[in-house]
Amino acid sequence: MKNKLFEIKNTAINLIEEAATKDALEKIRVEFLGKKGRLTSVLRGMGNLSAEERPAVGKIANEVRQVLEEELKKAFDNINEKEKLEKLHKETLDVTIPGKKITLGSKHPLTVTLDEITKIFMNMGFKVTEGPEVETVYYNFDALNAPKNHPSRDITDTFYISDNVLLRTQTSPVQVRTLKSQAPPIKVIAPGRCFRCDTPDATHSPMFQQVEGLLVDKGITMSDLKGTLDVFAKHLFGPQVKTKFRPHYFPFTEPSAEVDVTCFKCGGSGCRVCKGSGWIEILGAGMVHPNVLKEGGVDTEVYSGFAFGMGVERIAMLKYEVDDIRLFYENDMRFIEQFR
Ligand code: DAH
Repeated sequence: MKNKLFEIKNTAINLIEEAATKDALEKIRVEFLGKKGRLTSVLRGMGNLSAEERPAVGKIANEVRQVLEEELKKAFDNINEKEKLEKLHKETLDVTIPGKKITLGSKHPLTVTLDEITKIFMNMGFKVTEGPEVETVYYNFDALNAPKNHPSRDITDTFYISDNVLLRTQTSPVQVRTLKSQAPPIKVIAPGRCFRCDTPDATHSPMFQQVEGLLVDKGITMSDLKGTLDVFAKHLFGPQVKTKFRPHYFPFTEPSAEVDVTCFKCGGSGCRVCKGSGWIEILGAGMVHPNVLKEGGVDTEVYSGFAFGMGVERIAMLKYEVDDIRLFYENDMRFIEQFR
């Protein structure tokens, strides 16, 4: 029996030495020390031994168990250590590898332009307000004093959702919405998208942006309008530019004007940007028509006001000498990144 025990011990130790994985070690443990293991079954046979032999054999059996347990533990620890080292090795961080480049985006030129326009008016005390892009015929045309036969009402010019609902063709409806929702003094700008049935070309887009302006207070005159827009133009294009008001017609203003600035490129002598005239048209403006003020619930005996509206794309094209409006909507990074 002693021999059997020594044999078990030697076999097990050899196997433990050869085992390369924790699974293999566990198998050995079960095979030799488990409930149905080889050592256990030898111990079970001890009942057949004589009383003198039993203690000695028992002692050896215990020693064998102890040795095997120790050997198994050592082998387990070895493998654990090895695995740990392998893992550390695999996870080494090479701090000399160059970092990943983070590409910062840039603001879209239309955003840059709108930000600039907004900032100039906010510095003059205007608040920013907004109106819906899906608008009613009432706010887009009727309330703005547009004649029933005005050509812009035509379905060939305007996107209609239904007989009474459309995509706004201008930001001017925000004028009436503002007049109805707050009492004078009113001093707001209203930036936003507008839509017209235009076939895209270098200067037309069915979707574009405008900035509307509205100021209503006691004693407002045309000179307030001229002064305000002159300050605006000088901040946007440079202190050297002059402004010129040309008579024009808009249904919602009386008198109405188109406003030109001296060409900021050639200074007024004539060049490609101003098409030789020395002047560049930048916006429409006028004194708010009494019919519009009345529609908004304003007492025209007490209050008067001015309004203006400009195209953001147009201003951006002039300022940055972009010769095709479609470039703004193509999202070509090579274009957009030039405005950093
Ligand atoms: N709504 C006009 C347009 O889209 C622009 C405009 C002109 C707005 C004169 C105004 C204004 O407020 O007074 O062509």
